[in-house]
Amino acid sequence: MKLLLALFAFAATCLCQFPTTCPQPISPQSPNATIGVCPNDFTIIGPALEAVHSSKNPPTGLAVDPSLNIYLTYPRNSGPTPNNVVLCTSYTDEVPWPSAQIQNCTAGQNASECFINVQNVVLDSINQLWIVDSGIPPGNKSAVPYGSKIMSFSLKGELLRTYVIPQELYYDNMNANDVRINNTLGTKGYAFITDESASGSLLSINLDDGSVIRRLHNTSVTRADEKYVGTYNGEPIYSWNGTNKSFINTGADGIALQSGNFYWGVLASRRFYYLSQGVMTNASLSDEQVLAAVQFPGQLGSEQAGFTADDHGRLYLTASEQNAIYYVDTLQQYVNETVNSVQPGGSGLVAAENYVVKTLVRSGLIQHADSAAILQGWLYFCTNQLALSPSRQYNNVDNRKGPFRSYRTWIGRGPAV
Ligand SMILES: *[C@@H]1O[C@H](CO)[C@@H](O)[C@H](O)[C@H]1NC(C)=O
Ligand SMILES: *[C@@H]1O[C@H](CO)[C@@H](O)[C@H](O)[C@H]1NC(C)=O
Ligand SMILES: *[C@@H]1O[C@H](CO)[C@@H](O)[C@H](O)[C@H]1NC(C)=O
Ligand SMILES: *[C@@H]1O[C@H](CO)[C@@H](O)[C@H](O)[C@H]1NC(C)=O
Ligand SMILES: *[C@@H]1O[C@H](CO)[C@@H](O)[C@H](O)[C@H]1NC(C)=O
Ligand SMILES: *[C@@H]1O[C@H](CO)[C@@H](O)[C@H](O)[C@H]1NC(C)=O
Ligand SMILES: *[C@@H]1O[C@H](CO)[C@@H](O)[C@H](O)[C@H]1NC(C)=O
Ligand SMILES: *[C@@H]1O[C@H](CO)[C@@H](O)[C@H](O)[C@H]1NC(C)=O
Ligand SMILES: *[C@@H]1O[C@H](CO)[C@@H](O)[C@H](O)[C@H]1NC(C)=O
Ligand SMILES: *[C@@H]1O[C@H](CO)[C@@H](O)[C@H](O)[C@H]1NC(C)=O
Repeated sequence: MKLLLALFAFAATCLCQFPTTCPQPISPQSPNATIGVCPNDFTIIGPALEAVHSSKNPPTGLAVDPSLNIYLTYPRNSGPTPNNVVLCTSYTDEVPWPSAQIQNCTAGQNASECFINVQNVVLDSINQLWIVDSGIPPGNKSAVPYGSKIMSFSLKGELLRTYVIPQELYYDNMNANDVRINNTLGTKGYAFITDESASGSLLSINLDDGSVIRRLHNTSVTRADEKYVGTYNGEPIYSWNGTNKSFINTGADGIALQSGNFYWGVLASRRFYYLSQGVMTNASLSDEQVLAAVQFPGQLGSEQAGFTADDHGRLYLTASEQNAIYYVDTLQQYVNETVNSVQPGGSGLVAAENYVVKTLVRSGLIQHADSAAILQGWLYFCTNQLALSPSRQYNNVDNRKGPFRSYRTWIGRGPAV
């Protein structure tokens, strides 16, 4: 009885002290802020974000060139956009890139020559810009012949080379979503691609002879979680067709190359994996051997759409469920804490079981960071509020509220090579 009274008194005290004006949320600037007292006790983590571009439409892809020009992609899966790939010419202005006429295929044009549905644009380590085109026209399920491809361009926008994914690999709605290039692997480098179809798969392209291999189709490491439900800004997210509910089933999506490994995440899941680039590109291995070589460092605690990597062995993962960007060190020499009895420092790769994922930055400004790129000390990323888009909202209401901002934050590091 006494205890109950005491508790009641304590509760009453707390009620009396409930602030009428709330202090700042917890951050390095306000270390004494409360937790669980104010409705806005939402931890802000990490350095400031600088807005670098404001888009009317939601972008999915982002690249930065050595003059710090920003390129964005506006894919056509969720409605028509005049331009599929743009160069940003000011905070709000954009021009079609590399040209206006490549943005749309004309009737009868070979789909290898023009943009059907470009998902991302990326810079490689020899200053070539690459686009990845799913080749899937809006509303269709499968790529048109010669439509699924990657194309390399000079910084001046001259087409250098096109690598078409052969039609015999389009089975089961193969949906090329993201690409990264290793310019020094093999004779002329390799491209690595994630296929975000419901079954998911991974592809690699030999940039010398153009040969393509498709791996791990419809395996546990490329496929969505069964009946996956993520959350966004605190709300559970389903897939909707009118009032009919289903589940988001996007497969392998985010991708980065780091320290000789190929990292990817499955979007409709909280899982990410890695694999040696040498294993991924070795056509003489069986799919079973490739699957056996896949490393699983543990769940991520977030859905994730985009990855990038720096020149200090660090991998960055956009954590859309947490309004955050996560990171993890993959090289032991940069690890600064003891983990599982392994001392900080040393050499070689961090073992998968010793990965400790941390939060680089968390902020209400990060509304589904989709693609990220690192250049000259800055980490750039675009945001697109994907979870608020019609296919993910009840009755297909578009709850996205533009403009859609891209940001950068200082990390003092360059891109992985
Ligand atoms: C936080 O609280 C401590 C202990 O009460 C106090 O010494 C310190 O000055 C406070 N810091 C800030 C930034 O208010
Ligand atoms: C591409 O086609 C769409 C739809 O016909 C049109 O609105 C848009 O202006 C075209 N884009 C360019 C750059 O010509
Ligand atoms: C379309 O382009 C591809 C790739 O260059 C080529 O292999 C193919 O023969 C072309 N198809 C036609 C019908 O011209
Ligand atoms: C989309 O798919 C349908 C049915 O497979 C096909 O008839 C149509 O030509 C395709 N559209 C385009 C633009 O390829
Ligand atoms: C993918 O694998 C699942 C589980 O093994 C199976 O039920 C499904 O039929 C497979 N899908 C395809 C397209 O092979
Ligand atoms: C929604 O359902 C309608 C009617 O069944 C169908 O025609 C349409 O393709 C569906 N849309 C999607 C995105 O699945
Ligand atoms: C929703 O599901 C019902 C029952 O399966 C079906 O009759 C209806 O066409 C579906 N509506 C849409 C928009 O898909
Ligand atoms: C690219 O491949 C080279 C040669 O195998 C390797 O040393 C390097 O680490 C790879 N780059 C990345 C970013 O993984
Ligand atoms: C590919 O794998 C086979 C079988 O393990 C191996 O003998 C061969 O050396 C590998 N090739 C390369 C280029 O690593
Ligand atoms: C390791 O580095 C991180 C990031 O800079 C920092 O937050 C953490 O406190 C460091 N740990 C130790 C033990 O120094």
